[in-house]
Amino acid sequence: VARTVLDVLQSDGIYTEAACGGAGTCGKCLVSVDGMPCLACQTEFRDGMKIEVRAEERFEVLGAVFDSNSDLPGGGEFGLAVDIGTTTIAFALVNSVSGKIAFSHGVVNSQRALGADVISRIKAADEGKLELLNRFVVEDILGGISYICREGGVAPSAVRSMVIAGNTTMLHILLGLPCTSLGQFPFEPLFIDLQRRDFFGIFRKELLDCEVLLLPGVSAFVGADVCAGVLYGELLEGGVERLLVDLGTNGELARFASGNYMVGTATAAGPAFEAANISCGVGSVAGAVVRARYLAERGVFECETIGGAAAVGLCGSGVLDVAAELVRHGFIDEGGAMDEDFAVAPGIWFTQKDVRELQLAKSAVRAGIEILLLEHELSYDAVDKVYLAGGFGHSLNFESAIALGIFPEEWRGKLESVGNSSLAGCVRVLADPEALGTLLEITGRAREINLSEHPRFNELFMQHIMFEK
Ligand code: FES
Repeated sequence: VARTVLDVLQSDGIYTEAACGGAGTCGKCLVSVDGMPCLACQTEFRDGMKIEVRAEERFEVLGAVFDSNSDLPGGGEFGLAVDIGTTTIAFALVNSVSGKIAFSHGVVNSQRALGADVISRIKAADEGKLELLNRFVVEDILGGISYICREGGVAPSAVRSMVIAGNTTMLHILLGLPCTSLGQFPFEPLFIDLQRRDFFGIFRKELLDCEVLLLPGVSAFVGADVCAGVLYGELLEGGVERLLVDLGTNGELARFASGNYMVGTATAAGPAFEAANISCGVGSVAGAVVRARYLAERGVFECETIGGAAAVGLCGSGVLDVAAELVRHGFIDEGGAMDEDFAVAPGIWFTQKDVRELQLAKSAVRAGIEILLLEHELSYDAVDKVYLAGGFGHSLNFESAIALGIFPEEWRGKLESVGNSSLAGCVRVLADPEALGTLLEITGRAREINLSEHPRFNELFMQHIMFEK
C-alpha cells in the first residue's frame, strides 16, 4: 500500500493537523512539497521529496491561570488534575492543604494530527496507530506536568496525587488499550470503572511518584469527563433540574437532579463547534475571531479577536456569531443555502460547506437535548439551569446559539458557562475527600440513552436541521 506524506509525517512524530483523519475533506493537512502546496493525506510519498510543514504547535499553551487567592505554591503538597479532551488537554495544580487551584493551563492534544474527533481516533487506533496515539498523549501530559511544575514553582516530588478524566476513548488510549469495541456495536468499553494505577505504569517515566486515579464513566459514549462534570455541577448547587451540555465534538449531554440522579447521552456533533472542520476555522489562538457583528449599512463584519491581533481565522464562538448574523440578515436561508461564500475579514471566508457542517452539529445537539427531555416528559421550562461545559462555553454568545436553534428560546437566562467542568470535577476529587464517594454514587446509578437507537432521533434531527427565521 502506498504511503502518503501524512503517514510519513505521523510515523516520524511530526505534528500536522488532520481534522478529517486523512479523508481529504478538511484541507487542514496542507503542507508544501517541493515548493508546491498540497494536502499531505492525498499525496503519495516518494523518497527525496522536500516537505515543509507549518510551525510545531504541540505544546502551545492555551492559557495559564494563577489564582492569586490561593495559597502561594512553593511548599507543601499538591495534587494534579488532568482532563484529556479530544482537542485540548487541561491541567490544574491543586494545593492539598487549601484545596485551591494554584496554577492551571492547557495544551493542544497532539492526537489532533490523526483526526479531530473520537471516531477518527478509534479508526486510527484500529489501523495500527494506537501506539502513536498513546505516545502523543503520554508526551503531551509529561510536557504539561513539566510546564505546570516549572511555571507554578512546584517540585514534581511535591505532587503527591493525580486525578485524570477524559472521554472513554481518550482513557483507553492513555492505557494503550485497543479501541475497536468502542467503535462498533454493542459499543462495550474494556473498562469503565475507577482505575488506580501507578504513575510509572502509565507514563513509563519517573517524573512523578504517585498514584494516578482514572475517574469512572458510564459507557463508551458517556465517559469520565461527563461524569466529572456532573459531579462538579452537583456540588455547585444541588436540588434543581439541570442539564450539562458539552458542545465538544462528542456533544455530550447529561441531565441530573437531586439525589445524585443522572441520565447521559452523546450525540455525534462533529467538530464544527470547535471550528476544526470549518474552512477558515482555528483554535483559541491569538487573532481568532471570537465575536462578529454584521454592519448592514457598510456591508462588512466587525470582528473581535483574541488578543486584539489581526484576524487569522474563526474559532468556535466566532463561527456561531458569523452564522447567526448571516441567517439574521438573510444571507443564509431557512434550509441553510447561501448564494456565495462570504468574506468575514481579509482572507477569511465562511462557505456553504461550513454552513452544512454547522447544521449537522446543531441539529445533532438539539435533537439530543429533546430526547433527553422527552424521556422524562420534561418541557424546556422545567429545566432550571443549563451548564455549558468546555473551553468554548466561556466565550459563547448565548444569543447566537439561541438564534441558530442550538438551544430553545425558553432557556434565555438559564444558560451558564462553567468552563472545563471535567477538570473542575477532578479538582473536586483532589480537594474534597467526600467527592469521590459522591462520584461513585452518581456513576453507579447513572443511565445512558443511546440516541442512534432512539425511534425519534432521525425525525428530530431532520426537523432541527433548518434555521428558524
Ligand atoms: S484533508 Fe488531509 S487530513 Fe483532512
